Amino acid sequence: MRALVYGAATALALAAAPAAAQQSQFEKYQKMVAEGSPVELFELSGEELWKKKQGPRQASLEKCDLGKGPGVLKGAYAALPRYFKDVDRVMDLETRLLHCMTTLQGRTREEATKRLFGDANQPSEMEYLSAYVAGQSRGTKLAPGAAHPKEKEAYELGKTMFFYRTGAWDFSCASCHGEAGKRIRMSELPVLSEPKAARPLMATWPAYRVSNSTFVTMQWRINDCYRQMRTPEPNFGSETTVALITYLTVTAKGEAYRGPGTKR
Ligand code: HEC
Repeated sequence: MRALVYGAATALALAAAPAAAQQSQFEKYQKMVAEGSPVELFELSGEELWKKKQGPRQASLEKCDLGKGPGVLKGAYAALPRYFKDVDRVMDLETRLLHCMTTLQGRTREEATKRLFGDANQPSEMEYLSAYVAGQSRGTKLAPGAAHPKEKEAYELGKTMFFYRTGAWDFSCASCHGEAGKRIRMSELPVLSEPKAARPLMATWPAYRVSNSTFVTMQWRINDCYRQMRTPEPNFGSETTVALITYLTVTAKGEAYRGPGTKR
């Protein structure tokens, strides 16, 4: 199935590209398959999606402003989450991408975030786009917004939520991520409230997950942890998820971005 996704995305790009570009794109693709690097394949498919005209407006995402100006990708991911004046709220990468998909392309929220092939285990466009955009921040230090009052508010809310016990099991994030040396089965549970633990981990999201051979994003990670906490899962791009991502990224600030990574 995954091979199909790559295949389909590549075929689309090949159909649109001029002959010379076709050749190099195809060679690049073959090389990656040979090297067995799924992360790069996701980045490549993400680039195709970024440039693909879609939605009622038949627009690409190339004018999407991720905080550094329309279409500027270099270092943009490392400066997220941040406050965006046009929507008067703090957004992480995926929330901002969704904003661009609904405004620039005129797509519905539901359609823009749907899982490919209607299968919950398949990625949505977000995974590919996140891989592509984040890859443009390699080597840039994480410097999420922390000065605007709404950015400070998001940080404080995220911090509160991290330690807030809730749900049937009365768990907080800190119940699992608050004590050194804790583990679930084979997973070591990092103390994410400490910069030492947060820095190398936050600098490698989004990531390819080896255990189930899928590419996953930070919005997915937060939701999956809420699921493990046995609470209802927050909505995609909600204030809750953005606040937690802000808190964790600010805790990791200063670390050079070196993702998309590979996780267990
Ligand atoms: C029931 C235990 C549990 C709770 C509660 C929990 N998590 Fe997790 N979390 C995990 C497990 C298990 C992993 C995966 C570790 C691995 O992949 O090896 C994980 C991984 C993560 C990671 C990725 C770390 C990395 O390797 O990069 C982040 C970020 C994270 N959790 C955030 C949160 C947040 C935020 C909350 C609260 C909303 C939370 N978690 C609550 C169990 C939990």
